[in-house]
Amino acid sequence: MRNRNIISSIDIGTSRICAIIAEINRDNLLEIIGIGVSPSMGIKKGAIIDIDSTTKSIINAVEKAEQMADSTIDSAFINYTGGNISLVKNKGIVAVRSENKEISEEDTERVMQTARVVAVPTDKEIIDVIPLEFIVDGYSGIKDPIGMVGTRLEVDAQIIMGSKTSVRGLVSSVQNSKVTPKGIIINPLAASKVLLTEDEKDLGVALIDIGGGTSEISIFLGGNLIFTKTLPIGGNHITNDIAIGLRIPLSLAEKVKNRYGCALVSSSDSSLEFDFQRIGDQQKLRTNQQYLAEIIEPRVLEILELTKKELNNHGFSTLLPVGAVITGGGLHSLKGFYEASNQILEMPVRMGIPGYFGMEEPFYSVAVGVLEYVHKNKQYKQRLANRTNEITNIFMMIRKWVKDYF
Ligand SMILES: Nc1ncnc2c1ncn2[C@@H]1O[C@H](COP(=O)(O)OP(=O)(O)OP(=O)(O)O)[C@@H](O)[C@H]1O
Ligand SMILES: [Mg+2]
Repeated sequence: MRNRNIISSIDIGTSRICAIIAEINRDNLLEIIGIGVSPSMGIKKGAIIDIDSTTKSIINAVEKAEQMADSTIDSAFINYTGGNISLVKNKGIVAVRSENKEISEEDTERVMQTARVVAVPTDKEIIDVIPLEFIVDGYSGIKDPIGMVGTRLEVDAQIIMGSKTSVRGLVSSVQNSKVTPKGIIINPLAASKVLLTEDEKDLGVALIDIGGGTSEISIFLGGNLIFTKTLPIGGNHITNDIAIGLRIPLSLAEKVKNRYGCALVSSSDSSLEFDFQRIGDQQKLRTNQQYLAEIIEPRVLEILELTKKELNNHGFSTLLPVGAVITGGGLHSLKGFYEASNQILEMPVRMGIPGYFGMEEPFYSVAVGVLEYVHKNKQYKQRLANRTNEITNIFMMIRKWVKDYF
């Protein structure tokens, strides 16, 4: 049997955990060979609050993916969400070392090291440092300076930080599942890899991921991620509203939402009727989609209004010619949702779906995106190779921290 070139990712979300195994084929393309989805436990609003429960959910998703792929997940790239992402810009500068002044990989590594030197708040942890542009002897806008000739190499870098508690909880849960975390990619960078084109990121676009417990708004402009904010609201709030409104258990509310849910009363169909049973009641009751839409609509509008407010507050509403791309499982299946988003956001809106066979659902965007981000990104691979020791150190440190405190 030939050696299989395998790569795996795990998207750890508030309502679902999704593990994916892909094989890199002879054409250097990713072929998804295993998918495992499990309901996630121990996570609230994107942050891990119970490591043991999350570990169980991860094991469950990983085992399902392994069975499907007939392969094991020993290591995986994981996502980071949770609303505490800080994007900090910093500069690095070094003199080119070689005699002929040709810039080498070692020079770029050194300049990136200097860009990493910032004061990190005690409750934060650096997740990644991304070069936005290199500058060689004053010439800016260079993406890859290796092989160019110059005496002074500068870099404009973006430092991505997450909450120390969240990063450590995440890494521990994965390690406890007997999977080695190979790297952490923040949600918007992962999802953008499969949902946005380079042109869209250049011109200006909002990527909005409406999940179960959170809604993440990210702005790309000039090719880079310039802003990200997570609102603690998502599709699970709608399930809650239905459970309270109809007085039914959450599990039934989820089924009713997925089957008959409609975002707008004006798009609903009053002739579409369905039966349901209240908690503690033997009798069957009958209602219709219009009544359900009356429960759902205020929450959908609230999520969209809050998103719009966030875009307005930061002056993005008029800056984004491409408009918004909405992904995540939270609202997209609701009838009339895109109509509602067009109305409220007052910009062009399209659905963000990964173009992978069998995975054309918005809730796969992050898991597939993590793989694409790692696989298609020469610079990331280089950063990973250079930082292997450092990453190992962080993961070892976290192992010790967990042992000491739990
Ligand atoms: N057919 C459907 N119709 C409406 N909502 C749905 C449907 N299927 C799933 N959902 C909702 O999608 C949400 C989960 O979406 P997703 O998997 O993107 O979230 P997550 O990544 O787990 O959460 P988060 O990103 O907030 O951490 C849940 O609220 C679920 O009820
Ligand atoms: Mg999510």
